[in-house]
Amino acid sequence: MDRYAVLVFREQSITDDEQLAFTRHFGELEAYRTPGHVRPRSEQRLGPGMADFSNLDKHGNIIAADDRVWFFKLADRLWHSDSSFRPVPAKYSLLSARVLPSWGGNTDFADMRAAYDALDTRTKAEIEDLVCLHSLIYSRQAIGFGDLSPEEMAAFRPVRQRLVRTHPVTGRKSLFLSAHAGAIEGWAVPEARMFLRDLTEHATQREFVYSHVWRPGDLVMWDNRQVMHRARRFGDRNEIRDMRRTTLAGDAPTIEQAEDHAA
Ligand code: OGA
Ligand code: MN
Repeated sequence: MDRYAVLVFREQSITDDEQLAFTRHFGELEAYRTPGHVRPRSEQRLGPGMADFSNLDKHGNIIAADDRVWFFKLADRLWHSDSSFRPVPAKYSLLSARVLPSWGGNTDFADMRAAYDALDTRTKAEIEDLVCLHSLIYSRQAIGFGDLSPEEMAAFRPVRQRLVRTHPVTGRKSLFLSAHAGAIEGWAVPEARMFLRDLTEHATQREFVYSHVWRPGDLVMWDNRQVMHRARRFGDRNEIRDMRRTTLAGDAPTIEQAEDHAA
């Protein structure tokens, strides 16, 4: 994982319990609870520890095109890093494909280490100590969905993340970008948004991207500290795409990262 950041295990037919057991070999499950989240526990299809990345409701029906839960999910098609809107962002995510649509629905991964390395020295110096604000509100607003309750707004208050982070094992630097990033501390918002867009465009060029074409049973595991990812559109919304994720907690806020860490 430290070296490749994305690992693919083809055609594993695993149950939720097996996925959870496998995940726990690599650390602690992420255990954030968001009060009054878009989908309360009673409305969820999967058990504790399993994040539902399908287009299904708890009865197994396809979520309606105008359902706010669907609008929320759509923003996963923007480049992001999981839980970058949490004070301690996620370490690994493990995504298992159970049922796939007949067209589209790939998941793309962009290598944020390679993207960082390819920056010019002036930009590297400029971003070295920058701190961004990340919130689910920013990534949802980016696709025109701003219909959040006061409770959700409070739960998704922006958190601070360094823009350049250093991997705790390899010491390699990477760009910590995400659709959840909507501001840079000390910068005017339009200036910050434009700069973040520019960096994201740089970081997601073809040469830094692996596009995973799913087969049923595939398990893909990635290091959110080193890559961004996004879901791709699929052709027919009446087809099922049943994807299930387990997530490992990160070990520290990026903000506390030693500023003189080995390059
Ligand atoms: C995720 C995610 C992408 C996909 O599981 O965190 O963003 O392709 N999923 O479903
Ligand atoms: Mn994700």
